[in-house]
Order: sequence, then C-alpha cells, then structure tokens
Amino acid sequence: MVNSNFSLESQIINLKKSKNALILAHYYQTEDIQDIADFIGDSLDLAKKAAATNADIILFCGVKFMAEVAKILNPSKKVLVPDLQAGCSLEESCQPQEFAKFCQSNADNIVISYINCSAEIKALSDIIVTSSNAEKIIKSVPLDKEVIFAPDRNLGNYLIKQTGRNMKLWNGSCIVHEQFSLKSLIKLKERYPEALVIAHPECPENLLDLADFIGSTSKLLNFVKEQTPKDFIVLTESGIIHQMKKVSSDSNFYVVPAIKEDISCVHCSSCPHMKLNNMEKIYNVLVNEHQEITMPEQLLIKAEQPLKQMLQLS
Ligand code: 13P
Ligand code: SF4
Repeated sequence: MVNSNFSLESQIINLKKSKNALILAHYYQTEDIQDIADFIGDSLDLAKKAAATNADIILFCGVKFMAEVAKILNPSKKVLVPDLQAGCSLEESCQPQEFAKFCQSNADNIVISYINCSAEIKALSDIIVTSSNAEKIIKSVPLDKEVIFAPDRNLGNYLIKQTGRNMKLWNGSCIVHEQFSLKSLIKLKERYPEALVIAHPECPENLLDLADFIGSTSKLLNFVKEQTPKDFIVLTESGIIHQMKKVSSDSNFYVVPAIKEDISCVHCSSCPHMKLNNMEKIYNVLVNEHQEITMPEQLLIKAEQPLKQMLQLS
C-alpha cells in the first residue's frame, strides 16, 4: 500500500536505495517517470547501461523488448517492469515462425534485426541494430551478402537510402510514427516557417523527406542541444519533449498531429505501450518484485550473440 503521508516519488526513491535498484527510463516515458529515473536514454544507451550496472535490480521503464535486452545482457540481475503488457507494434508484427520462413530463402544471407523485436526474433538474427548505430553496422557487412532487415520497413527504407545497400525488408511499422499526418506537417511548416523539422527514422519516407535532421531519440536531443533556441517541429513520440525543454528552455516544440486529428491535437503522438507505465505501478513493482522478465536459458544464450555483435560493432 502506498503511504499517503509521503509522496510517491520519495517512497520510490527510498525503495530504490534500500533495494539497490537502478531505474532506467526511455525518453517516451511520462515526465514524472523520467524525473525519478537514474538514467534516461535511447535504446542503445539503455542497453549499455543495463549491461554495465552492479545494481541488484534493474527496474526498466520502457517496453518489454527493452527489458528483455537488459536481462539478456546482464542475466544475473533481477529485471523488473512496471507493466508486463507494455509491448510494441513492431515486435507484434514479427512472429518467430513466419520470420524463420522469411529468412530461409537464401542460406547465405545476413539477418539484421532492429532492437524493437522479441528475444525469439533476436535469437534468429545475426546482428541487432538500433536507430543510432544501424547505418554504421550495415555499412560494415561484406558486399557479397544478401541482407535481410526486420521488422521496421520505414527504418529499413531509410537505411537503404543512406547506405546504398539493397536489403530485403520485413513489412512492420511503428503505430506512432506511421500515423503522423503529412498534411498537418505541411500546415505546421507554413505556420512556423523558421522551424526545423526533426524526425525519428521510424517515420514514413514522405515525412522524412521534409526533415532537416533525422536520428535516434538521443541524436534528436543532442541536435536540439547544439542549436541556438528556435522552433522545432518534432516527428517522434512526444515524451522526449520533456528533455528537449530542459536542454533548450527558450525553444518551442510543436508536435505533428496524427492523420485523423486536427492541428490542435496534443496526445496523438503518444505511444500507448510506453504510456502503460505509471508511478503507482513502479512503486508496486519495487515493493513486490512481482513483474520479472524471465526466459529459457537457451533463448538467453541465443539472443545474446547478436546483441554482443551489435555492441562490438557500435
Ligand atoms: P530509440 O530511442 O533507440 O531512438 O528508439 C525509439 C523507439 O521507437 C523506442 O521504441
Ligand atoms: Fe514500439 Fe513505436 Fe511504441 Fe517505440 S513508439 S515502443 S516502436 S510502438
């Protein structure tokens, strides 16, 4: 039970200390969660932090595939999540049986999977990438190999353009980035003609074509930090704007509405999976340690290899 004499925040911080827990949070978490986290980052930064920690417990505030990565890279730790239902549309789109068939077409291929996939898909892959290291890793693959890329077709198409490398793409997409409206983006650009458009590469090509800068969440944040204060039109999940305002408090950030919303929409760039987590669930899981990420030993071992490859090549 939450003690109403103390704030939830202070109770979480005390529990975290007494249990030697590390709270990791992705930029798409709500502001209150970001503010109690020990570390906030993109998928790659979070994976590295999880791999390196000496804490007894890793409480992962993000989505399930991220917490699985933490468990795979640091298996002796207890990895907890606020809500085990926090999934990802990219992960859902790519089921192991169909993916295994998809990869069978050519035995001499290299299977590169975006980190937004299940541990089972990782186990079927040669190398894992994130949006911040994918370009570099794909460029390092020998030219005589056929590359299969899954599960995000938008990121895949963007990487084909960036690397000049033809890849066979799985047809998955992110429900958040897929639904930004081109019409609304154009309207916003007309309203704020000086604004820079910053976009995550999970967006479709017609939106990326209008972007001034494209990158992972950490790269978008760094880009904002490096600019003099100005207007930014943000084509990614709106949670990251909390950190953008911290690094550039005099800038203005505009979120692009979804296809079916009008221009005043403020919640349409919200990931429903990321937003399943809340402070009460964090408190409860720290008290009860009940929502733990576990997986069969064999799966842990198989999924570790392509993740280790990624860390080596990053
Ligand atoms: P990054 O934080 O690695 O850019 O990934 C974004 C994302 O879609 C997380 O679900
Ligand atoms: Fe998955 Fe998209 Fe949500 Fe990221 S924002 S967790 S890719 S559904």
